[in-house]
Amino acid sequence: MKDILTAPFMTELVRTMTNMYAHGWDERNGGNVSVLLEEAALSPYLNPQAVIRTLPTGFEAPELDGRYFLVTGTGKYFKNVQYDPAKDLGIVRLAKGGAQAELLWGFSDGGRFTSEFPAHMMSHVSRLRVDPLNKVILHCHPANLLAMTFVHALDEKAFTRSLWQMCSECVIVFPEGVNVLPWMLCGTNEIGEATAKKMETARLVVWAQHGIYGAGKDLDETFGLIETAEKAAEIYMKIAHLPRLNTISDEGLTRLAEHYGVKVRDGYLNL
Ligand code: 13P
Ligand code: ZN
Repeated sequence: MKDILTAPFMTELVRTMTNMYAHGWDERNGGNVSVLLEEAALSPYLNPQAVIRTLPTGFEAPELDGRYFLVTGTGKYFKNVQYDPAKDLGIVRLAKGGAQAELLWGFSDGGRFTSEFPAHMMSHVSRLRVDPLNKVILHCHPANLLAMTFVHALDEKAFTRSLWQMCSECVIVFPEGVNVLPWMLCGTNEIGEATAKKMETARLVVWAQHGIYGAGKDLDETFGLIETAEKAAEIYMKIAHLPRLNTISDEGLTRLAEHYGVKVRDGYLNL
């Protein structure tokens, strides 16, 4: 067996989480990540038949039965993951229609997966239906997006338009916009189901007064989505209280979308 700490999926996740911490998105144990893995990618590093222990999930996700996930542990600090990934991360295989997770590696201190496991797994189900190549769900607490949910209407179209207007790249990077959930109790199946529903139409879902979820085909794409939205929110928070003398018009946003060949969310531009 090869050393799993050298596996590309492991080094990429550790690097990404360290970078997220450096961006200030993951204070203390804030944030969580799950990455869908194929058995063929895993088998050089571990024996998939060797189950360390089983953990109840508290929900069902039959579509994910038998699927493998590298996932962050609850209560673990992104800041520290690089020093002991086997403690802070785990690899699980879903079983019994998603009601059970079989631990194959990690959580070496007896820990378990993130409290947001329902939101992660249910979001994977939604995104896989839209895009079979989706692999990553990533949650964090970026300050400007969070701040925006205190001072901006939570209407999805209005919120999206405000972000798109903040820099030219936004409409190109997330042309489907961002979806928004009102404040809800986190760590529950209810917020998981609500997030998954929102994931049917966008790869970014803002949790008001909490943070954001992103989805994508790999860690770089998903990190980049959140990075771009957070940058736009930062600009919004810098200018929201000032008179706005200039903006990107809807005609400009349309030209950007046409030039870069992306399909903007229907009905979001007033032309
Ligand atoms: P976990 O430590 O359980 O992953 O929770 C962190 C978090 O961000 C909750 O939303
Ligand atoms: Zn959170």
